[in-house]
Amino acid sequence: MERVDLLLTGIGTLVSPPGNKPRCGHAMKEVREIKDAAIAIRQGKIVCYGSAQEVQEMLAGAEIAETIDACGRLVTPGLIDPHTHLVHGGSREHELALKRSGVPYLDILAQGGGILNTVNSTRAASEHDLYDKARRSLNEMLLNGVTTVEAKSGYGLTLKDELKQLRVAKRLDESHPVDIVSTFMGAHAVPPEFKGRTEEFVDVIVNDMLPVVAEQGLAEFCDVFCEAGVFSVVQTRRILLAAQRLGLASKIHADEIVPLGGAELAGEVGAISAEHLLAATDESLAALAERGVVPVLLPGTSFNLGLTTHARARDMIDKHNLPVALSTDYNPGSCPTESIQLIMMLASLNLKMTPEEILTACTINAANALGRGGDIGSIEVGKRADLTIFDSPNVAYLPYHFGINHTYGVIKNGHKAVW
Ligand code: NIG
Ligand code: FE
Repeated sequence: MERVDLLLTGIGTLVSPPGNKPRCGHAMKEVREIKDAAIAIRQGKIVCYGSAQEVQEMLAGAEIAETIDACGRLVTPGLIDPHTHLVHGGSREHELALKRSGVPYLDILAQGGGILNTVNSTRAASEHDLYDKARRSLNEMLLNGVTTVEAKSGYGLTLKDELKQLRVAKRLDESHPVDIVSTFMGAHAVPPEFKGRTEEFVDVIVNDMLPVVAEQGLAEFCDVFCEAGVFSVVQTRRILLAAQRLGLASKIHADEIVPLGGAELAGEVGAISAEHLLAATDESLAALAERGVVPVLLPGTSFNLGLTTHARARDMIDKHNLPVALSTDYNPGSCPTESIQLIMMLASLNLKMTPEEILTACTINAANALGRGGDIGSIEVGKRADLTIFDSPNVAYLPYHFGINHTYGVIKNGHKAVW
């Protein structure tokens, strides 16, 4: 080896799931652990890692441009948040009392509030304001140890306003250290001007919105809120298949509140992921397993909606051998938090996932929910040097000592983004 741009030494414990593929079932808890480790980086990629001594031997004679000392801290792959509604206008704290008094989420939406409230603020916001607000959220995520974030549109619900949101996500991807993966979610709610005419709105999505989004290369995925009173299974199928024909892979907000058949549909259309799944049945979980769909669980949402039911992560892992991923679902209604570390704690508390499973869910399985398992999500030679340095003695400490930010530093593409 001739040259190394950055050598990260003094790693107390390096922990990473192995390989590039989704880690299913019991394999989720098998993580690789190396004590007293080091990682060498060149041109934004990991060129070698191992025990400090092994790395020293591999680097014998190499020119090392910069060395940083992790001083005995914990190092993991950069965390990945694969489901967020990052770009939106306004906030919904004025709905808090309504929510806490027990008015159901879908009832608030049916009354023109909820998502539709944020649609109004997003339509009214300038592109500059949307950018500025989302950039501040992205800073929070980076400080939490997150290096890649998926961002959905879906608060514009007109071609013009959906494009506005998607352009903001693109500009953030270009200007912010955190990478953004963009998803078109024009089918997030039926806007007031189409009230009672959902089918016509689906026509608009399919005929007017999707072709432009695809043509402008503004999204990689298409997502639909498949839920009672929002978009039916038939409508969801139509939108996702139209998007697939234009090159956008599928994601589904499935079986969040009512078991409508969204998860089965995810299997049928070969979606990359199915999200929420609180009400998913055993049959639908089997359909996900059969087609290799990644279940993305959002325990912050059930927590914040005050639900007593939670996604059946243990069944997904133990019975159905699924590769569970975790995400914040950051949005102004059902889960207004950027903190993936809070989600890690809730996954431990309410989903009964082990710390190692949680790490796998926030790294390699999240990467695979975004089709990026070959590039990010684990510490492997040749992969992107996205690393999070935690001020924690071990992985279990992250969900255990809750309510604080454990991140000490973040290396993104081989550069110090936080230190
Ligand atoms: O994933 N369920 C639908 N969409 C979001 C919530 C959006 C909102 O309330 O603004 C979710 O929970
Ligand atoms: Fe969501």
